[in-house]
Amino acid sequence: MANDPVRVGVLFSTSGATSTIGCSQLQGTLLAIQEVNDAGGVDGRELVPVIYDAQSDPAVYAALAERLIVQDRVNVLFGCYMSSSRKAVLPIVERWNKLLFYPTIYEGFEFSSNIIYTGAAPNQNSVQLAEFMTSNFGARVYLVGSDYIFPYESNRIMGELVLQRQGSDKVGERYVPLNASAAHFKPILDDIRAKQPDFIFSTVVGDSTATFYRAYAEAGLDPKRMPIASLTTSEAEISQMGNEVAAGHFTAAPYFQSIQSAQNVLTLERFRRMFGQDAVPNMCWEAAYFQLHIFANAFRQAGSDEIVDILPHILGSEFDAPQGRVRIDTTNHHTCLYPRIGVVNSQGKFTIVREATRAVHPDPYLVTHSLGDWTTALTSLEL
Ligand code: ACM
Repeated sequence: MANDPVRVGVLFSTSGATSTIGCSQLQGTLLAIQEVNDAGGVDGRELVPVIYDAQSDPAVYAALAERLIVQDRVNVLFGCYMSSSRKAVLPIVERWNKLLFYPTIYEGFEFSSNIIYTGAAPNQNSVQLAEFMTSNFGARVYLVGSDYIFPYESNRIMGELVLQRQGSDKVGERYVPLNASAAHFKPILDDIRAKQPDFIFSTVVGDSTATFYRAYAEAGLDPKRMPIASLTTSEAEISQMGNEVAAGHFTAAPYFQSIQSAQNVLTLERFRRMFGQDAVPNMCWEAAYFQLHIFANAFRQAGSDEIVDILPHILGSEFDAPQGRVRIDTTNHHTCLYPRIGVVNSQGKFTIVREATRAVHPDPYLVTHSLGDWTTALTSLEL
């Protein structure tokens, strides 16, 4: 009916190994839904989130995605953090011909006509991070990751990028379980100390990120000489490990809280009013926020949220996100984003040390391995 509310599926993990980042993705989604509804909904139709906790478990993601589609009758889902969860939901949205918006940095090398990917692909973070770390620290890298697909693939890509450089070497590659404890990291840190890489590339995700960085600090290693570089360690993980432990380590991402744009400042203000000071905006929060607005705008134009109607209005659409003006690519369903590199400062925020001057086109299959428009050092690096 013309003014009936519209249910949308919201499927993140508010419990389990990735619950801190999952909670922030949920909050980013709910902020945008509130903004859409405050502005009168989509042509007078209120958006009503149907929210489930997927417990950081790919099998639960799959079951709940099916439930959202079959029982709750949603046409569009917003969700997933770990790539293993997206891989579990992908065949379900394809089978029912529904749409998943996925707000997370991931390893690339995937396309589904039923998914919109709004986090960074490897040509929007790994390529820049490899160039930055090898230029500033050297090309002997040690790879440490959680035991699932995103770390395997991201480490493969980082290894390939680093091995193109002079004097490069992959001196170690280790994996730990998602619920890894300090005891899992101890032998790895002993090995790192023995091998003395120039930098560590971490694809550890979720709660064990804090455990890893703490174990690194306790091992007495020095970020000035051998920092950790990551694609996933965000303000959310820093809030878990503490500012002192995080300081001096690097992350590549399209969004950091410290971006000074008016759009970011206003969005953070609205977010703080809704969720208070303790919530931690981060790259996945921002993607969750802007993708909901992209959906709502396309829904308004299409007059329907059925995939056949709405998809043509999503593809090619743009939005003034906190990171800058983003655009959904028409051919590969990924997003034009702004690569940035930040180093954690003593306040637990990222000082942005490099940033693209224009949005970089997504190249999820790394056809070009290029640096895109990666020319301007906004801040000189002071280590
Ligand atoms: C991830 O698994 N895409 C962080």
